Amino acid sequence: MSTPLTNLLQVNQLSKHFEVPVAGGWIQRSASLRAVDGISFNLNEGRTLGLVGESGCGKTTAARLVLGLMKPTAGSIVFEGQEISAMRNAQWRSTRQRMQMVYQNPLGALDRRLKVIDQVTEPLKIHHIEDGRTQTEKAQSLLGELGLSSTHWHRYPHELSGGQRQRVVLARAMILSPKLLVCDEPVSALDVSIQAQVINLLQEIQEKYGVASLFISHDLKVVRQVSHNVAVMYLGKIVEQAPPEILFKSPQHPYSQALISAIPSVSHRKNQGRILLQGDPPSPLFLKPGCAFATRCPLAMPVCSVKEPLLTQINNEHFAACHLVTKDAAC
Ligand SMILES: Nc1ncnc2c1ncn2[C@@H]1O[C@H](COP(=O)(O)OP(=O)(O)O)[C@@H](O)[C@H]1O
Ligand SMILES: [Mg+2]
Repeated sequence: MSTPLTNLLQVNQLSKHFEVPVAGGWIQRSASLRAVDGISFNLNEGRTLGLVGESGCGKTTAARLVLGLMKPTAGSIVFEGQEISAMRNAQWRSTRQRMQMVYQNPLGALDRRLKVIDQVTEPLKIHHIEDGRTQTEKAQSLLGELGLSSTHWHRYPHELSGGQRQRVVLARAMILSPKLLVCDEPVSALDVSIQAQVINLLQEIQEKYGVASLFISHDLKVVRQVSHNVAVMYLGKIVEQAPPEILFKSPQHPYSQALISAIPSVSHRKNQGRILLQGDPPSPLFLKPGCAFATRCPLAMPVCSVKEPLLTQINNEHFAACHLVTKDAAC
């Protein structure tokens, strides 16, 4: 019998609205930009939740909120059963060690003045974990697991390839034995062949150490490969959520259908079934009432520009926010 999964992260109705200046005559005005607008999800220990959506839909903001790098406008984040906003400094510092970030741009995430080995021992030094010798041994062992041999340990970041740098970022994140990795487009800046290697490594490491991951990407193919559950975001909201085998087989939201149909295939016949979305997403500054996707939706109905569809359970693990799903067409 399989052991029940333990909940690690619970995000409830999380929002981040930025007040941004808008042009308008002599008087300085500001408007609220809804970068993240009431998202909720759960993540169990050792599992991966893929967060996918077009650029600007709020993925990085959601990641930064989860990691406590910015304060939410509303909502709650519960990690290991504790509300993050209620944590005092010491508790937050210790909790934060168990949540680590893997960034898109490894060169930006690494200190250019530090050699590889020092990049990886640095978090242990900052948190006064182990003595100097053990710190070095731990870092060497982790770097070895991540495919970086002793020939790389004394190099600087600019002396490594993109894939090697991302391995150093991964080692730096893993050295504190986190429970959660927040990976924000971790392979988007890498060549396709290197992407596959880094993703395999990430999966191996996750399995070996039982670490959960919030895996953010605009690339559905990558998300499908790594995730146990996928949340599709559109303009700050989750519009569909399901395990990948269900989402990719029977997407219910027209936005997910369009994204999935746009995944390139080797089959010419499949490529012909592509749904082309018209226009750009509307500005998150001036959202109209109703469904934010209605302006681009090929299946939009009158109700869609009036009433916002709520995320509704279709079956066990499948949720979608669309009037076609909730059969609200008559409203
Ligand atoms: N600090 C900020 N101030 C104002 N607007 C921001 C800020 N950070 C992000 N945004 C806006 O929030 C929206 C979501 O951004 P982001 O989370 O970076 O999206 P993604 O990672 O999906 O590309 C965008 O419209 C972006 O311009
Ligand atoms: Mg981003």
